[in-house]
Amino acid sequence: ATTLGASAAESGRYFGAAVAGNRLSESAYANTLATEFNSVVAENAMKWDATEPNPGQFNFSGGDQIVTWAQQRGMKVRGHTLVWHAQQPGWVEGLTGNNLRNAMLNHITGVANHYEGDVFAWDVVNEAFEWDGSRRQSNLQQQLGNGWIEEAFRAADAADPGARLCYNDYGTDGINSKSTAIYNMVADFKNRGVPIDCVGFQTHLSAGDNLGTYQQNLQRFAALGVDVEITELDVGGSGSSQAATFETVTNACMAVSRCTGITVWGVTDKYSWRDDDPLLFDDNYQKKQAYTSVLNALNEG
Ligand code: G3I
Repeated sequence: ATTLGASAAESGRYFGAAVAGNRLSESAYANTLATEFNSVVAENAMKWDATEPNPGQFNFSGGDQIVTWAQQRGMKVRGHTLVWHAQQPGWVEGLTGNNLRNAMLNHITGVANHYEGDVFAWDVVNEAFEWDGSRRQSNLQQQLGNGWIEEAFRAADAADPGARLCYNDYGTDGINSKSTAIYNMVADFKNRGVPIDCVGFQTHLSAGDNLGTYQQNLQRFAALGVDVEITELDVGGSGSSQAATFETVTNACMAVSRCTGITVWGVTDKYSWRDDDPLLFDDNYQKKQAYTSVLNALNEG
């Protein structure tokens, strides 16, 4: 096929992009997104600070805008993210003990209930591990202890049993201490029946990064009985080196049957969170060499 989304769909996969709602009024942005992609994720609009600015007072306007826009165009929506140590509203940061626990559970319930039926997969918990495989010492970890991730997944499952529930992190682009710690957590969850359906690999890279164990890493998670998704792909760099790194990631997903889709973390270099032009379309919405490599990999896989 001739677009990223349609090519991914031929193998039952999606190809998505992270979206900022305030860019949808720019016609080149909207046209590129609608033409090339078949899935979206809100870059920021579904995070805790955006959706629950005051305790128990939910604001879904930003997320709803993106969901409505996507659904009108037949696109799928990923949910990002229910619980994260960053982008918490100020009122959460000072909570302790059961006040924080109840705030977390109430937040998950409120957001996942609201988007039930709209979101095919949730990043339930984002970035809870350190490079060495230890738990990040966030307020959630310090106040609630090791069980907080399990509590979050159980609450999400109760609120939206139909959505696929993912753990999402970065720096897990190969077999290393961090990915192994997450692997062990997922294995434990599967053994004990804690509801988890998928693992998200953010895949924020630079051109030429060593991806020697990338596919093998995806495959070992899949072998645990979870889907794997590339959730925030971007590759700093340019030209053939950047294209080759994108191609390696795409080929790895295509080679793992439980790799259900790829999301790039933005539509155009113009609006990336990074300043090293890491996306598939340049500042003028022209297709880059990396675009062609990804498209070909999707079609050959
Ligand atoms: O919403 C305010 C806006 O009102 C204000 O005018 C503006 C002025 O700076 O700031 C806006 O908020 C910013 C927001 O992006 C929207 O542009 C925040 O300051 C800024 O921190 C925020 O950055 C986001 C970052 O997550 C927050 O940590 C990036 O856009 C977003 O791309 C990035 O995404 C994360 C994923 O969620 C998790 N994985 C890593 C990834 C990259 O950091």
